[in-house]
Amino acid sequence: MYRLSGVVKRYRRGRATIDALAGVDLTIEDGDQLVIKGPTGGGKSTLLQMLGGLDRPTSGTVELDGTDLARLSEAKLTRVRAATVGFVFQNFNLIPTLNAQENVEAALVPLGTRAAERRRRAAEALESVGLAERRAHLPSELSGGQQQRVAIARALVKQPKVLLADEPTGNLDENMRDEIVGLLEKMWREHGLTYVVVTHDTAIARRASRVATIRKGHVKVAEN
Ligand SMILES: Nc1ncnc2c1ncn2[C@@H]1O[C@H](COP(=O)(O)OP(=O)(O)OP(=O)(O)O)[C@@H](O)[C@H]1O
Ligand SMILES: [Mg+2]
Repeated sequence: MYRLSGVVKRYRRGRATIDALAGVDLTIEDGDQLVIKGPTGGGKSTLLQMLGGLDRPTSGTVELDGTDLARLSEAKLTRVRAATVGFVFQNFNLIPTLNAQENVEAALVPLGTRAAERRRRAAEALESVGLAERRAHLPSELSGGQQQRVAIARALVKQPKVLLADEPTGNLDENMRDEIVGLLEKMWREHGLTYVVVTHDTAIARRASRVATIRKGHVKVAEN
């Protein structure tokens, strides 16, 4: 589980400072789904970066299963990111020169998985998102929804404990949106993941059992 206490993330721009997170206390149980919403600039992406160990807080603690991510060495933090956390972004973030299969395999390289095992697991992950037939396609040869499916396969191939998604449907049209939302929720349920999703989609927020709203770096959680 996550336990965040007094998390502050302060950015400095010249003499001005911005508290993107202004003292956040938040607990997320294993296997829970948490939806994060709020106005632009409120701190949603910053919070996700703290949860994923992509960045460190200025002060406060970000505990994952009792380990404070803020205090881990760079090497250990990299390891947590690679092994424990799957990310899905609004812009897919696929490597343009690698095909779908290679993009998914790339997630297993930092874990030291052998090549044959990487191939097998990546093929399996692509099949689970319905893209077995597109394995050899480059990202530029895939639709937006298909690219996001590859990104979901890449996030899940390492069998993470946590899935973090930052506006995963922000760049998709309405039909694609429902497909991707449904796929993410199915993966959350089937794999027993802790699932944190930033979204403006009110339908998702309505279904979720917990919704956190972030404004000016302050978090309020509502239980549905
Ligand atoms: N690297 C940075 N340097 C300086 N300020 C930053 C940096 N990253 C974010 N900020 C500021 O921190 C605040 C929170 O940004 P964040 O990206 O977390 O917002 P958000 O809620 O994800 O917004 P959006 O809905 O537009 O994605 C904003 O005021 C932003 O300008
Ligand atoms: Mg954002």
